[in-house]
Amino acid sequence: MILECFIFTVITFLVTETQCQATEVFAEEGSGAVLPCKTNSLSLIPAAIVWSKANKGTVWRKQKSGLQYWGASWLKSGSEGTRVRCPHSQFERGDYSLQINRVTEEDGGVYSCSVELDNRVVEEVVILRIIKVTVSPSVPIWGQDVSVTCDVTPWPYGLSVQWILNNSPFESQGQIISDRDVTKSVVRQKATARLTGNWSCAVSIRGKMGRASATVSVKGIIQPSDDNTKVYAAVGSSVVLPCVFSTGLIPSSPVWDKLKPGSHFNPAPGLLPRSFSPVSPLSQFAWDRSASLKEVAFDNEGRYRCSGIVQGQRQTRTMQLVVAKIESNILSKKKGSLMLTCQLSDTSEVTDYEWVRVTYDPNGTQSFETIQKGNKLSISVSEEIQGEWTCRFYGRGGILGNVTHHIQLMSGLSGQKSTRSSYNTAAVVGLSFLLVVLLLILAQMYKNHQRRKRILQYPALETIVHSISNEREEKERSRIKK
Ligand SMILES: *[C@@H]1O[C@H](CO)[C@@H](O)[C@H](O)[C@H]1NC(C)=O
Ligand SMILES: *[C@@H]1O[C@H](CO)[C@@H](O)[C@H](O)[C@H]1NC(C)=O
Ligand SMILES: *[C@@H]1O[C@H](CO)[C@@H](O)[C@H](O)[C@H]1NC(C)=O
Repeated sequence: MILECFIFTVITFLVTETQCQATEVFAEEGSGAVLPCKTNSLSLIPAAIVWSKANKGTVWRKQKSGLQYWGASWLKSGSEGTRVRCPHSQFERGDYSLQINRVTEEDGGVYSCSVELDNRVVEEVVILRIIKVTVSPSVPIWGQDVSVTCDVTPWPYGLSVQWILNNSPFESQGQIISDRDVTKSVVRQKATARLTGNWSCAVSIRGKMGRASATVSVKGIIQPSDDNTKVYAAVGSSVVLPCVFSTGLIPSSPVWDKLKPGSHFNPAPGLLPRSFSPVSPLSQFAWDRSASLKEVAFDNEGRYRCSGIVQGQRQTRTMQLVVAKIESNILSKKKGSLMLTCQLSDTSEVTDYEWVRVTYDPNGTQSFETIQKGNKLSISVSEEIQGEWTCRFYGRGGILGNVTHHIQLMSGLSGQKSTRSSYNTAAVVGLSFLLVVLLLILAQMYKNHQRRKRILQYPALETIVHSISNEREEKERSRIKK
């Protein structure tokens, strides 16, 4: 009966479900496999055991006398002897399972176990399926086509395959490709950082599960991992523009560009800002090509691109520098009120603003006091306002950055003064104008007075002058009459 079942299984295992109960065993290539063969009856009498593989003959057998034999193909491996064994210690418990170490694809197939006890023969059929995950190319460069393949040898009809990347199911499932007698599941993707990690192929059939995994590490620019990543910086601060290649991957001809605005598809490099430095104070390794801006100005905002050549392929990464500043305005309507406005060169990722007042106790310990939400803050200059006023801005994933406005004691007072001085100046100007006018009037009056005095000294002269003028007037009148 066992022989029939065995032959039947060998013939049909690729085509249909086997009729007799063959045990499914999955093993990842390179790992160990245990092919179960158990009897219910315990026996102290040594049994004759035969493990054989379909089309390959005997794997291992033991005679009642205790002599062991290995199949020729299982004896090859060198000093360690053989990869298969059937531990005696388990025999007493009726366990005649076969252990195979470091399984290979060739080990996949149908095995049978035959145990001769007293006058009974116990038979088992086991199908060993080897799972293997391969990545091609083994170290993909960013942007290359990469394929992750799951091979199961032999591949059973109706096998379900699930791809798992870093412990979560991979969204776009692999395709199952059947090509004549080779069946496999393949995931094809453009290599990005997202593909980096532990890829597992979880297979199951008739309640039995197996799994194999492989690590994918995509080489290229690993930080930032995506194009158009936003980097936030406050005006006047220094900022690092990250551009880190995979560890040990040293790019040739690294270049930084600032891209002209509006050129999304075919970016034209523009001029780099003056405070730009192609090295970052933090970078220590040749694969860290991060750059820095020593002192960010508001118009330094925009898109930057770093690139370098790796294995003949240019790797590029773009990022956007978003600059934050605080505008401070004295409100003319509300006297003595200062309006702080938090401004960002790009607010597309910003969901929330928060104003925080930073104060220092005599020990120099910072303390934060949240004042309000929103990008505008109105503070009364009559209060004690010196210190740091920080605007924190948040995105969906949490804080994006902050920008601080310093109102120092001196500038605070002068700020107060300047608000007042603007009114004072007007008054002073007005007053001085009045004073000047008054002085001018006085001067004129004095002049007139002096002249009169002089004229009175010569009364005769005055009469003459007077009569002359009278004469002229009469002449005029007579002319009009004519
Ligand atoms: C990958 O994940 C599997 C299980 O999810 C684990 O057994 C294996 O050790 C992991 N491999 C690596 C290289 O992390
Ligand atoms: C400053 O430090 C001293 C000792 O370290 C402590 O006793 C004191 O309370 C601190 N003052 C403040 C305002 O935190
Ligand atoms: C602003 O950001 C800097 C750097 O991340 C941080 O050290 C500082 O505490 C922040 N200030 C506030 C008020 O959140």
